[in-house]
Amino acid sequence: MRPPEQFTTPRLLGRKPRASDASAVFAAYASDPEVTRYLAWKAYRELGPLAEFLQARADDWEKEGSQFAYLLCLRETDTPIGSIAVHLNGSNALFAYVLGRAHWGQGLMTEALRHLVDWSLAQPEIFRAWAFCDAANPASARVMEKAGMTREGILRRWFPCSGFGPEPRDCIVCAKVK
Ligand SMILES: CC(C)(COP(=O)(O)OP(=O)(O)OC[C@H]1O[C@@H](n2cnc3c(N)ncnc32)[C@H](O)[C@@H]1OP(=O)(O)O)[C@@H](O)C(=O)NCCC(=O)NCCS
Repeated sequence: MRPPEQFTTPRLLGRKPRASDASAVFAAYASDPEVTRYLAWKAYRELGPLAEFLQARADDWEKEGSQFAYLLCLRETDTPIGSIAVHLNGSNALFAYVLGRAHWGQGLMTEALRHLVDWSLAQPEIFRAWAFCDAANPASARVMEKAGMTREGILRRWFPCSGFGPEPRDCIVCAKVK
């Protein structure tokens, strides 16, 4: 099973990444430590490694793998402002996302996540759409809930965030099931 290679919501286009997106992605979010604080990866300081990363995510779409990343652009543009990824793992779909700071607080990530959660649960094989975020990241937890997920609890010592050192931290887990 594969997700659609492209999707649209009222305000967003989700499309496959390209290595040539590196400078736009760098400017929009990937070089901003405030954005990457609660993510696994540290803010990029150079374009080269970011272009390699984006090429690897583009290559994922050509494989029989289970992880698929989209870049998010405002509709009618081709300029990335964020990203959302889905990991299809048997009967569940795990989501992760990031958005450039200039676009926070407008409901955009909720719009993208809700679209892909609904897509995933419309697949006969998928029964659980879920995501987790750092326990100190209430904006992300709120996005999950607004996208239709229910807060299930805390995964203790689950995931390290680049802004807080190597130790795994407590995370909020939310899911929508059918
Ligand atoms: C988390 C993130 C994706 C949210 O995207 P967004 O498009 O701004 O989210 P939305 O506008 O859809 O919703 C944000 C909600 O969080 C709320 N919120 C924001 N900051 C908050 C805070 N400090 N405490 C509580 N709620 C907060 C907003 O009020 C809004 O809820 P509301 O609509 O009920 O008012 C974005 O901030 C981001 O990319 N952050 C950095 C990367 C990250 O943390 N990714 C998630 C990793 S799990």
